[in-house]
Amino acid sequence: MDLSELREQCLDCHACGLCETRTNVVFGEGAENAEVMFVGEGPGENEDLTGKPFVGRGGKLLGDMLSLVDLYREKNFYIANIVKCRPPKNRDPLPTEREACIGWLRQQIELVKPRIIVCLGRIAAAVLIKEDFKITKEHGMIFEKDGIKYMALYHPAALLRDPGRKPETFVDLKNLQKLIKETCDHTY
Ligand code: URA
Ligand code: SF4
Repeated sequence: MDLSELREQCLDCHACGLCETRTNVVFGEGAENAEVMFVGEGPGENEDLTGKPFVGRGGKLLGDMLSLVDLYREKNFYIANIVKCRPPKNRDPLPTEREACIGWLRQQIELVKPRIIVCLGRIAAAVLIKEDFKITKEHGMIFEKDGIKYMALYHPAALLRDPGRKPETFVDLKNLQKLIKETCDHTY
């Protein structure tokens, strides 16, 4: 099994109700041997229409911020979401939908083998780091599980709503850059 075979299977998935309302499955994309993986919550409207993760206004902000620490999805990171199909009206994905979908992400993690996973927003951190994750308190902190390091950042949509949180996110990104330099072999 490689990533392109996994993608083909995922594009056919009907394991939860979100398949009824999606335009496209948003599998994820980026460098296939990436040492750093970003994980968001689920596709929004632009992602549903294009089939690509983080391509709307939030995605543009994320790309601009990550370029400041030399991270580019074509080159040195992989990006995906907890759920692959857009929840109607961008509501939070339900626990049943998260459970139905998480196997795809687990397989992506097994194939890409990242050393560092960065959760974008509380929902991804709750699923991947710990259920009661407090994003306002615990963003930027480093966690370790099964040999993978984890960090959470504010979700880009939260930064668009509340730009006052951007300075904290720049501090987190600088710490991420340092962690990458310590942990990774070929990202930089
Ligand atoms: N928000 C997310 O969590 N993921 C996307 O792909 C786009 C917006
Ligand atoms: Fe399948 Fe995930 Fe889409 Fe549900 S959200 S249909 S589990 S790919």
